[in-house]
Amino acid sequence: MAKISVIGTGYLGVTHAVCMAHLGHDVIALDTNAEKIAMLQSGQVPFHEPGLTELLEDTLKSGRLTFTTSFADVAANADIHFVCVGTPQQVDSNAANMSQVNSAVAQLAEHLASPAIVVGKSTVPVGTAQRLHSELVSKSPAGSGVHLVWNPEFLREGFAVQDTLHPDRIVLGVTSSEDAQRVADVYAAAIDEGTPVVVTDYATAELVKVAANAFLATKISFINAFADLADATGADITQLADAIGHDTRIGRRFLNAGVGFGGGCLPKDIRALQARATELGLADTFEFLTHIDAINQSRRDTIVERAVIALDGSLHGKTVTVLGAAFKPDSDDIRDSPALHIAQELADAGAIVKIHDPAALPVLSTKTHNLQLCEDLESAFDNSDLVLHLTEWKEYRALDPNALGDRVKSRIIIDGRNVLDRDLWSSAGWSISYLGRPGS
Ligand code: UGA
Repeated sequence: MAKISVIGTGYLGVTHAVCMAHLGHDVIALDTNAEKIAMLQSGQVPFHEPGLTELLEDTLKSGRLTFTTSFADVAANADIHFVCVGTPQQVDSNAANMSQVNSAVAQLAEHLASPAIVVGKSTVPVGTAQRLHSELVSKSPAGSGVHLVWNPEFLREGFAVQDTLHPDRIVLGVTSSEDAQRVADVYAAAIDEGTPVVVTDYATAELVKVAANAFLATKISFINAFADLADATGADITQLADAIGHDTRIGRRFLNAGVGFGGGCLPKDIRALQARATELGLADTFEFLTHIDAINQSRRDTIVERAVIALDGSLHGKTVTVLGAAFKPDSDDIRDSPALHIAQELADAGAIVKIHDPAALPVLSTKTHNLQLCEDLESAFDNSDLVLHLTEWKEYRALDPNALGDRVKSRIIIDGRNVLDRDLWSSAGWSISYLGRPGS
């Protein structure tokens, strides 16, 4: 078993640290935020991720997982260091903000006095690994004894534990096969299960990650563009997606039309990719990502426009119930959430917005001012003029439209995720409409 460190305790870092300790490795996890480290040490995960708290408690008890804020500790207790810090979008451009990666690598390098492998997992612009490799060699006391491997991460929020323990592929960008073997040994359990390993160069490893996210974003905007066409022609987008999805070259997954993609990854990754491609002289070729982004953003406007129409042209004094605040179910992540964006737009335009989410309300309460946060799902429907279903938590599919009909002022619901049962809601007297499905 290896002695590893994990630098950065966001979604990726915490999940990676806990899962690696669960597999039997000795793990020390670092964050510069002492409050976060104290929380983790006491067994609390600072975000909602199914199964992770239980696994954190177990691994803390095992003694194989410790936390620190000191790079000296990390260097003294591990010889394989996973860099898992965030690369958010820059405030004033589409490019990735690399300050956390740069600072983590620089601080780590200072303390690397003996041979070590640094493993980059953060999503970075292509070319970063080559640069970091040179910096590690020049700044570490161990010099060329410090090696770098680029190992992008593909976990999904809501499935983070499963995706980390049983990834669908492992990609290793390396300069030597010995480095590839040492990092592959850390993932021996998954590899023994048959997980394919792609050993490649730095640039390919970096590009695999952004290509995957750009492809997923493109799939979603593609089906959403067809949802508009379905609305214009009376076609049904769900049946269309089912039918093209039967072609295994296309596949059905990520063809769910609706309010589009959000979160801390897809939106910022397509923008950063476009920025990097532009730097490399490929602005025209990657211009299509502007359209992917624009189609995605326009889904939010479509719902707002539909809401105004459903409310007879005026939002003032009208009550709108918004189901969902997180960018996807089984997460409390509200970064670039379509649901929250729409809720905020309606509230800013004068509607009384009541918002429910099974997990994200505690995060919301510190950030929102003009939304009414509803902990109780049923009472979120009281006096509502319009209900919007914007994040497809399973709780919402289990709602009883008959009982809820007595709570609302008007039985009107717009399903922005195209998953609620039309017959169930219609037979309870609701007017239910979708994006890209007839009868809308
Ligand atoms: C995404 C990728 O799926 C992961 O593989 C990747 O590791 C991660 O980004 C990352 O780069 O860290 P995640 O952001 O957790 O994972 O969420 P997804 O499941 O990809 O969903 C993204 C958004 O697309 C959500 O808002 C979701 O509601 C939306 N979506 C997804 C659709 O609108 N339609 C679909 O058919 C699928």
